[in-house]
Amino acid sequence: MTLSGKRILLIIGGGIAAYKALDLIRRLRERGVVVRAVMTAAAREFVTTLSVGALSADHVFTDLFDRNDEHDVGHIRLSREADLVVVAPATADLMAKLANGHANDLASTVLIATDKPVLMAPAMNPKMWSHPATRRNRATLQKDGVAFVGPAKGEMAESNEAGEGRMAEPLEIVAAIEALLDSRPKPLAGRKIIVTSGPTHEPIDPVRYIANRSSGKQGHAIAAALARLGADVRLVSGPVGIADPAGVTTLHVETANEMKDEVEKLLPADAAVFAAAVADWRSETSADEKIKKVAGEGPPALQMIENPDILSGVGHHRKRPSLVVGFAAETRDLVRNAEAKLAKKGADFIVANDVSHEGGVMGGDRNRVRIVSKAGVDEWPEMSKDEVATRLAALIAERLKTVVV
Ligand code: CTP
Repeated sequence: MTLSGKRILLIIGGGIAAYKALDLIRRLRERGVVVRAVMTAAAREFVTTLSVGALSADHVFTDLFDRNDEHDVGHIRLSREADLVVVAPATADLMAKLANGHANDLASTVLIATDKPVLMAPAMNPKMWSHPATRRNRATLQKDGVAFVGPAKGEMAESNEAGEGRMAEPLEIVAAIEALLDSRPKPLAGRKIIVTSGPTHEPIDPVRYIANRSSGKQGHAIAAALARLGADVRLVSGPVGIADPAGVTTLHVETANEMKDEVEKLLPADAAVFAAAVADWRSETSADEKIKKVAGEGPPALQMIENPDILSGVGHHRKRPSLVVGFAAETRDLVRNAEAKLAKKGADFIVANDVSHEGGVMGGDRNRVRIVSKAGVDEWPEMSKDEVATRLAALIAERLKTVVV
């Protein structure tokens, strides 16, 4: 997908992340995109119109009632001349304004006047992001067709707080823009696909949990690749440090039981891909209070019980999707173990990867997989997790072609 020649209207909201908008403009212009910027009054407290204008090589629009601007371009033309409107950073205020139809400055007026798709990259303090008002606004905006990229979890620039609210990185925003402007045929349009990704956290007490090293990169990349092919993707993600993929509805869970409940609520679906590294066991009990060290008593004995197998549950479900894809992370006897899982879990494919492989699949960016099905074993060369995702999405599209919607 090439972005060359595309026109983007970038609305820069007021927040520390506004400095990342400068890099975003650079990245877009490197790709031949024509960027025109609108800055809110708050944005101008963080970066200057001079920097934004220099990078975009265009006039920067700031005022709704600027006679010159209205005479030359006008807010309606400004909102329609682009192929896409991108809001980065999208503040809680800008989200609230659009969700409720306010139009009292240039940015909010352009957003409500446009007939083009809108992509928002939220950035705010984690408390503001998790506030019911912001969550409500986000749900409204999604229903209205606004696309989102991020936010990610991480350290906040302005405080020692960590949590969800950090703006997606400029290259993630570029990828989301590419996905939205991609006009190639969408073989998975009209297909609902469930994807699980990331680890699960199984609590021991309020501060401790059992986890694993899964980063969620592969599962998230698969969700994004399926969305690029037009699928309605529902990603059920365990706790990860990466942004929600663009164009995907992401549900966040902590434990295997929560993941299972969300996945089952999402049935029926056309396909399901189980990329999550679900904890096989959990502590039978989770203490309400932090477990204290008691002198002379030694460490507590954890009584472990098995978690439900989500893949197997769906693979044998009465509402089983037409296509069920599982993963197998093995350190030895890769193909034999994957074949056994195929049968036991009721999957059509198992994407088998050797986790003993050099460089470490878990957390890394590359992967070498084999696709195990009843038809045999297909060995794929080592490639990036994004490439594995793209190929797997194409394979899923191919397999679903013969299934009537
Ligand atoms: N899986 C699942 N629910 C679980 C455990 C695993 O949905 N409770 C799914 C994973 O998402 C993956 C597949 O099952 O698609 C294989 O998981 P893996 O951990 O490799 O297999 P296990 O069946 O747990 O076998 P083992 O750990 O003995 O290799």
